[in-house]
Amino acid sequence: MSKPTPIRAIQISDLHLKTAPGSQVWGVDVDASLCAVLARIQAQDFRPDFILATGDLVGDEPDAYERVREFLSPLGVPVYCLPGNHDQPARLAQTLRGGLVRWERHILVEPWQLVLLDSTFPNSSDGHLSYGELALLDTVLVTPPARPTLVCLHHNPVPIHTDWLDDMTVNNGEALFAVLDRYPQVRAVVWGHIHGEFDAWRGAVRLLGTPATCVQFKLGSPKPQADSTPPGYRWFELFPDGSLNTGVERVEPARRPSVSP
Ligand SMILES: [Fe+2]
Repeated sequence: MSKPTPIRAIQISDLHLKTAPGSQVWGVDVDASLCAVLARIQAQDFRPDFILATGDLVGDEPDAYERVREFLSPLGVPVYCLPGNHDQPARLAQTLRGGLVRWERHILVEPWQLVLLDSTFPNSSDGHLSYGELALLDTVLVTPPARPTLVCLHHNPVPIHTDWLDDMTVNNGEALFAVLDRYPQVRAVVWGHIHGEFDAWRGAVRLLGTPATCVQFKLGSPKPQADSTPPGYRWFELFPDGSLNTGVERVEPARRPSVSP
């Protein structure tokens, strides 16, 4: 017997958009790179029910949130956002409110649910989960029924063996896992931030890092170093029985963007 139809989702991360079109980050044109990723998402047969955008939507320029909306609205499905260390949460909340592209905290996609946590720490690149964020997570998970759950945030909550990035790991990851360990319905923790791919298990919980839509980092390098791997995104199939499939797609940036905001 074939498996029932899953919920389909795509995760993009670390757009680092600036206000000026064609801006570069580490030598990568962030607009062109994002356009190539979005064009691939729109061209493929895999039709997502929603998109997850896990932070660093802008590169320290909060006026660029309007451009985030302009780039992502044409996808035509909800884009659920959360902030990263290069975002300004107050401006993100103000600009991406209502409409298809918006910051959400808790999403129900029967029978699954997603919790979107804010792991930013004011005036710092560090990751941290405040008491309020941990309380939100606990409240969602303790509320029946026990739904299969994806926990989403920007920073990696575990070290990834890359010294300079591990200095910016969620600095109270043990507090996160102390909550998660009480709820067997948690299926995966997903993040961005590392500009690369990560896939591991902690008990029955999948730990998933997702590439940036712009420059990639060389994971394993003790010092900041770009990697020539193309940008990418992660896809998810979330099945009614609580199982999931996931994978990463890489996209060679077009020389000329085929989609413009
Ligand atoms: Fe980033």
